[in-house]
Amino acid sequence: MSDAALSMDRMYRRQRYIYDATRKFYLLGRDGAIAALSPRPGEAVLEIGCGTGRNLIAVARRFPQAQVFGLDVSNEMLTSARVAIRRAGLENRIHVAQGDATDFDPTTLFARADFDRVLISYALSMIPPWRAALAHALDALRPGGALEIVDFGDQAGLPRVFRSVLRRWLAAFEVTPRDDLREELGALARARPLRFLTAAPFGGYAIRATVLKP
Ligand SMILES: C[S@@+](CC[C@H](N)C(=O)[O-])C[C@H]1O[C@@H](n2cnc3c(N)ncnc32)[C@H](O)[C@@H]1O
Repeated sequence: MSDAALSMDRMYRRQRYIYDATRKFYLLGRDGAIAALSPRPGEAVLEIGCGTGRNLIAVARRFPQAQVFGLDVSNEMLTSARVAIRRAGLENRIHVAQGDATDFDPTTLFARADFDRVLISYALSMIPPWRAALAHALDALRPGGALEIVDFGDQAGLPRVFRSVLRRWLAAFEVTPRDDLREELGALARARPLRFLTAAPFGGYAIRATVLKP
């Protein structure tokens, strides 16, 4: 098992039972990112770092004609995701598999080469080689597709004391806001044909990005 899988399984072995009930208060902006996916009927949506499957279920319900896929490095999280998907009666529409964001092979995991929409929600901040994960997500996106990202932002619009308390608290959960996400998207867009938009909702508590692959 890889270091990332061991680390995330350790992190979530017990937390996964209270994950959805607690995270709804502070993983802000997830539903906006899901709404922005807006796949056309029959299109395929992949969430990278899907955790308990909360977003996958929301995508499947909101876009009933989409095909929905999720991968996560943690088998503990995937156990929770599979239970939730079964309870929601969506096991025929949502497919999940274990994989690492930096090197997964979509053909091996899901028998398809790419996806029309990709979502990364509060996962880049937990992936140390996040730049590699971002580049790999773009590789998994079909031309004409869109990648939606939501994560912790730089909190630039929030009081300094709030920012420093939040950063310390996040660090305890091995979460590092990617303050240079915009710069990294800019670098990627110079190296390949991409367009992107970013926003800093909730006073910069979160960052949202939409990346379009022509
Ligand atoms: C904070 S949770 C977010 C879960 C979900 N996306 C959400 O919005 O509720 C981060 C997820 O990223 C997963 N993760 C961390 N490193 C990963 C990696 N290298 N590859 C794939 N998933 C990873 C963790 O196991 C965890 O499920």
